[in-house]
Amino acid sequence: MRSGKSKAGLIGLGTVGKSVVKLWPRADGIILKRIVDKDKKKNVSVRPDDILNDPEIDIVIELIGGLNDAYRYIKSAIEKGKNVVTANKALLALKGEELEKLALAKGVSLGYEASVCAGIPIIRGIREGLAANRIRSIYGIINGTANFILSAMEEEGIGFARALSQAQEQGFAEHNPTLDIDGFDSQHKLAILARLSFKTPVKLSDIYVEGIRRITRRDIIYARELGYSIKLLAIAKAEGKRLDARVHPTLISKDNLLSSVHGIYNACFVEGDACGKMVFYGQGAGGLPTASAILSDVKAIASKKMGTVPDFFVIKPIDELFTRYYVRFSAIDKPGVLARICDILGKHSISIVSVIQKERSGTRGVPIVMMTHKARESSMRKAISSIDRLNVVKEKSLFIRVEEVED
Ligand SMILES: NC(=O)c1ccc[n+]([C@@H]2O[C@H](COP(=O)([O-])OP(=O)(O)OC[C@H]3O[C@@H](n4cnc5c(N)ncnc54)[C@H](OP(=O)(O)O)[C@@H]3O)[C@@H](O)[C@H]2O)c1
Repeated sequence: MRSGKSKAGLIGLGTVGKSVVKLWPRADGIILKRIVDKDKKKNVSVRPDDILNDPEIDIVIELIGGLNDAYRYIKSAIEKGKNVVTANKALLALKGEELEKLALAKGVSLGYEASVCAGIPIIRGIREGLAANRIRSIYGIINGTANFILSAMEEEGIGFARALSQAQEQGFAEHNPTLDIDGFDSQHKLAILARLSFKTPVKLSDIYVEGIRRITRRDIIYARELGYSIKLLAIAKAEGKRLDARVHPTLISKDNLLSSVHGIYNACFVEGDACGKMVFYGQGAGGLPTASAILSDVKAIASKKMGTVPDFFVIKPIDELFTRYYVRFSAIDKPGVLARICDILGKHSISIVSVIQKERSGTRGVPIVMMTHKARESSMRKAISSIDRLNVVKEKSLFIRVEEVED
């Protein structure tokens, strides 16, 4: 296929779709033949079949989002021998493997650079730039909304609810922010990154996910006193033949680069066995950054440059994680309470590095903050569950995993 002869069709003229049209003059002669959107007022076709059944169109760009229609259109395009470009992370996280296999069988390409970190060329960076490497680990701040909220809590000393409202007022969070703040958007993106990096089918359910709703202003302050920032991190690490893949709030040392990623920015550390560590950093959302990635896929397809190789890992369960923890308890201020908590931790082989006991805050108990030595996640969960059943404990305890990300 010569790039000058390719013809594209775009389904979905929303935020990203409009930016793709704006950026199209940079498409090196590839023709944008048709645009479809379900909104009649946009003065474009409303029938996806106008694109899917057009034999001249060899690249279909799906930018409608959601699952069912997007899946039908992408599958149908591939079955008809068309290349597809999409930014649809939710769909790719669920059906990426199936669609990629179908594309391979049909001899066409499925481009999804825009699905992870928008304009940051991390997919192409891993797929092509790091092709000679075995990827060892990925540590990413890959959701700008959650990072905006945690940054605002840290920089302005405000609580979660206020930081979320600020994000919504400034257009960085949806009216229903669940996907972003409960970690699912990061989980979707990590599923895509991990599948690509570790050449392993990664199901969404393989990735442990925990969001940032329970992080309080106090946790941010205590973490800072201990020398850490709290970030919503997406992590995938190869451990022998097992893959450790998870998304959760994480304590990161203040000295680490990821600690200084603020606001809506995204950053992702990738470590390859040959190239060592590198960091991808930039705007992970927005019309033009996302369109930049869409156009790069369109141009790459027109010059035929894609493909994957199978090589399998086994997923490591979160219960087997072995790491240090920050734990915040809220207990009544009485002699012997700390000893009871320590006793339960000790029975689960969890040893403590430091303890901070704070003044009583409001009507709740006294906050007790601990940093532990490395412990097994399953032991930590059992210990916390026993501690939370003590009548001296006033609030569900919170633990945050510490990640030693090497710069
Ligand atoms: N926005 C970003 O910063 C960003 C970044 C990375 C990835 N993405 C991904 O890019 C995709 C598009 O996002 P977006 O922000 O551009 O969404 P959007 O603004 O909601 O645009 C989607 C457009 O598609 C139309 N549409 C929906 N269902 C359709 C259907 N069945 N047939 C035809 N048209 C249909 C919508 O019409 P109505 O408005 O009438 O429903 C709307 O015009 C999503 O998968 C998203 O996850 C977005």
